[in-house]
Amino acid sequence: MVTNSNTKTKSKVVIVGTGMVGMSYAFSLINQGTVKELVLIDIDKERAEGEAMDLNHGLSYAPRKMKIYAGEYSDCKDADIVVITAGVPQKEGESRIDLLNRNATIMKIVVGQVMKSKFRGIILVASNPVDILTYVAWRASGLPPSKVIGSGTSLDTARLRFEIAQKINISVKNIHAYIMGEHGDSEFVCWSQAYVGAKPLVDVIESMKEIEFKHLEEIHNSVKNAAYEIIKRKKATYYGIGMTLVSITSAILNDENRIIPISVYNDGTYDTVKDLYIGLPAVINAEGVNYVMKLKLNNKEQEQLNHSASILKGVLDQMEF
Ligand code: 2OP
Repeated sequence: MVTNSNTKTKSKVVIVGTGMVGMSYAFSLINQGTVKELVLIDIDKERAEGEAMDLNHGLSYAPRKMKIYAGEYSDCKDADIVVITAGVPQKEGESRIDLLNRNATIMKIVVGQVMKSKFRGIILVASNPVDILTYVAWRASGLPPSKVIGSGTSLDTARLRFEIAQKINISVKNIHAYIMGEHGDSEFVCWSQAYVGAKPLVDVIESMKEIEFKHLEEIHNSVKNAAYEIIKRKKATYYGIGMTLVSITSAILNDENRIIPISVYNDGTYDTVKDLYIGLPAVINAEGVNYVMKLKLNNKEQEQLNHSASILKGVLDQMEF
């Protein structure tokens, strides 16, 4: 039995889209005992029903009691979080931006249905291209930007931490470094603010033979290309994003004020293109985004942020709202 005094007494999550991403997230939620009530919605109702049955059959071995069922959009009314994973996934050789038009239409319809229920919680978007679709979801919802977020570069950041941890043989939990910008080809690493424990990465490089400055670009490329490499081998990515979404969910439900780089509305905290959603470190609590954490970027990183933001803005400017 998981007991956490900060956990909301009601913790209800609705997942829209019961594909591999949605269900990997659901499976992780159950195993970590994150929520009390889980609703599955899919355009294919039978599929959502089958998934709910399958998950329910594992409950005897789960860490806490849960209510899991296939539901309707009206179930969003009293949900804390609606997680949207619906959309067409990326195919081999296709960029996340290529998915845009197909998934923007789906997003508007889904959010319209969610809001019709009088939902007042937090929308968490995981469908790609996530920065653009989170903006679409925000516009379609009418909610304040703090209540509409996207998974952004949280998964990329997990990949980055893994790569660095592997290289220097230090726990992934002690790697503090962020991928920022677009969740996609223009994302960048904020190396100037990367730490191992409390030690700046720059000092780690000077004192450890396992890692050299020349490795940083390799690590960045490996993170940037991770999804392509996985899709090439197994057609889709889902476990990593599933676990990542659970950590964002816990930060919200447990009112943690946890710092996670996610897709957030750039309210001007960062001096770059405004009126867009982009991956920035955000302090997340029960209200959604408490605030965007400003990091001191060096000149190169500022240029990389501007580049990423202008790509996203260029896409948004071509869209109709
Ligand atoms: C990922 O990065 C495809 O966006 C998905 O795994």
